[in-house]
Amino acid sequence: MAKTVLITGTSSGIGRATALYFQKQGWNVAATMRSPDREINRTDSLAKLDRVVCIALDVTNQTSIAEAIAAAIARFGTIDVLVNNAGYATLGAFEASTPEQIQRQFDTNVFGLMAVTRAILPHFRDRQQGVLVNVASIGGRVAFPLYSLYHATKWAVEGFSEALQHELLSFNIRVKIIEPGPIKTDFYERSSDRASNAGFPEYQPFSDRVLSNLDRIGTTGAPPEVVAKTIYLASTDKSWKLRYPADPLAKQLLFLRKILPDFIFTKIVRQSTKV
Ligand SMILES: NC(=O)c1ccc[n+]([C@@H]2O[C@H](COP(=O)([O-])OP(=O)(O)OC[C@H]3O[C@@H](n4cnc5c(N)ncnc54)[C@H](OP(=O)(O)O)[C@@H]3O)[C@@H](O)[C@H]2O)c1
Repeated sequence: MAKTVLITGTSSGIGRATALYFQKQGWNVAATMRSPDREINRTDSLAKLDRVVCIALDVTNQTSIAEAIAAAIARFGTIDVLVNNAGYATLGAFEASTPEQIQRQFDTNVFGLMAVTRAILPHFRDRQQGVLVNVASIGGRVAFPLYSLYHATKWAVEGFSEALQHELLSFNIRVKIIEPGPIKTDFYERSSDRASNAGFPEYQPFSDRVLSNLDRIGTTGAPPEVVAKTIYLASTDKSWKLRYPADPLAKQLLFLRKILPDFIFTKIVRQSTKV
């Protein structure tokens, strides 16, 4: 019988590529997104594919989470894998960010991910199996300027996932962390929430210089299909391995992070971002 994956944030980028990849491998896919109505009208709509159902799910809305999980189980019988993918980055000098921006960043990337996880766990425990895949980032283990809020959320996802793996071991539920490097998606454009420096002119020259370099790194990123394959591998390899750097640059950078002393790694970050 075909297995089922539920993925959050499938309207674009990594989530969409992951939905397509699992579908091609013969899986049932509950492709969840904030606006399934928009999806239905696309010529390349996921909804047109066999074994795919598009379901409304906003990770900041508890009711929509519960309804989406119930709808996926009603349609496919079970959920074998949850991919917590939905997320975005707030970008800019920390001092220039508003309390609302900080709250929304954590509501989506951390509390949203936790809410979907809490909602799926009774189903996984009942079945004494399940795979929980959390899309973190290299930004959960290394940090770049102007991404302080985003890094704070992804470091939170790393710590949360690492602790949770121990709690879920006896229920035969595997926890996986996916760590992509720069990936060419809407992440750097449509989805990016840029803090305004209005009122903080002191940061402007620094922001202009560093931002242009960060944006350039984003445009040279790997395609989202690379991450989709890594998510599939993590979901199916039957190992208890926790971390999966997703693309060649992520592997290199995380290796350097591991072997280099802090002061050398910091120097590399400053040089590559032109701090
Ligand atoms: N691209 C990179 O370089 C990169 C690197 C490392 C990690 N990541 C992580 O990869 C994940 C996917 O990002 P991406 O690169 O694929 O960017 P993307 O193309 O912008 O996709 C982000 C997805 O998250 C959804 N989303 C945002 N807020 C949501 C909410 N409250 N509820 C449900 N869905 C929500 C968006 O939906 P809407 O269409 O409704 O906005 C969109 O489908 C994120 O967690 C990101 O942090 C990305």
